[in-house]
Amino acid sequence: MKSLPRPPFADRLIPPITALTAYDYPTARLCDEAGVQLILVGDSLGMMVAGCEDTTSVTLAQMIYHTTIVRRGVKNAVVLADLPIHTYDTPDEALASARQLVAAGADAVKLEGGFDQIAQVEAITGAGIPLCAHLGMLPQRVREEGGYKKKGRNEEEARSLVAAALALEAAGAFAIVLESIVAQVAAEMSDRLGIPTIGIGSGHHCDGQVRVVHDVTGAYPWFVPPFARVHGNVAEVTRGALSRFLDEVAESHRTGFPG
Ligand code: KIV
Repeated sequence: MKSLPRPPFADRLIPPITALTAYDYPTARLCDEAGVQLILVGDSLGMMVAGCEDTTSVTLAQMIYHTTIVRRGVKNAVVLADLPIHTYDTPDEALASARQLVAAGADAVKLEGGFDQIAQVEAITGAGIPLCAHLGMLPQRVREEGGYKKKGRNEEEARSLVAAALALEAAGAFAIVLESIVAQVAAEMSDRLGIPTIGIGSGHHCDGQVRVVHDVTGAYPWFVPPFARVHGNVAEVTRGALSRFLDEVAESHRTGFPG
């Protein structure tokens, strides 16, 4: 089992780490009360809350707002907030943006990228802010990459992922999200790193798993990623309640009861 010596919340992240996104107070509170170890205020809120096509229009102001309201609902879990696209283009900008998310209530911040982000990671961790890295499929680069594609499919890509993960660990990251990486490669990364890996669409050998909460509860019926296992039917329950409300109003209008 891996140890987490660095961040102050190390004793609250016990492999297998459980992580879910939350973007609002009630969801954050429900996740926290259920015992979820890490709550990610993900920039996936661009899709799941704002209805955008991807995460590329999410702003720091939006992330600050959502981090503030999530923080209010959390007593035990670690609150991790995403640095949105173009808020960490330089080390100075990365640190300034990270400080704003911490001021909003984040225990730690996450950014996407590998070797190209080492200076940014060092700036943030050097200032004492815990940082989670994110490798593999990088949603903030979905437009450049032309879609959500599996990573580590060939030897060269696999080697580069392992090397980037080791460099991020050396730069001070306390954990790494591995998104859509071939399971065998994610397993090797998990073996070779001293810090935990938190997988999404990267197989079961990671030290933890993270999911978008809507994918778990069935609250976003229009799209579910192929790797997600849906454990609830929130959309159906909501549709049922809405339909009964419409019926109730029509009925009370007709009968004058209860008003
Ligand atoms: O924003 C997000 O939800 C994420 C997960 C995909 C890990 O970064």
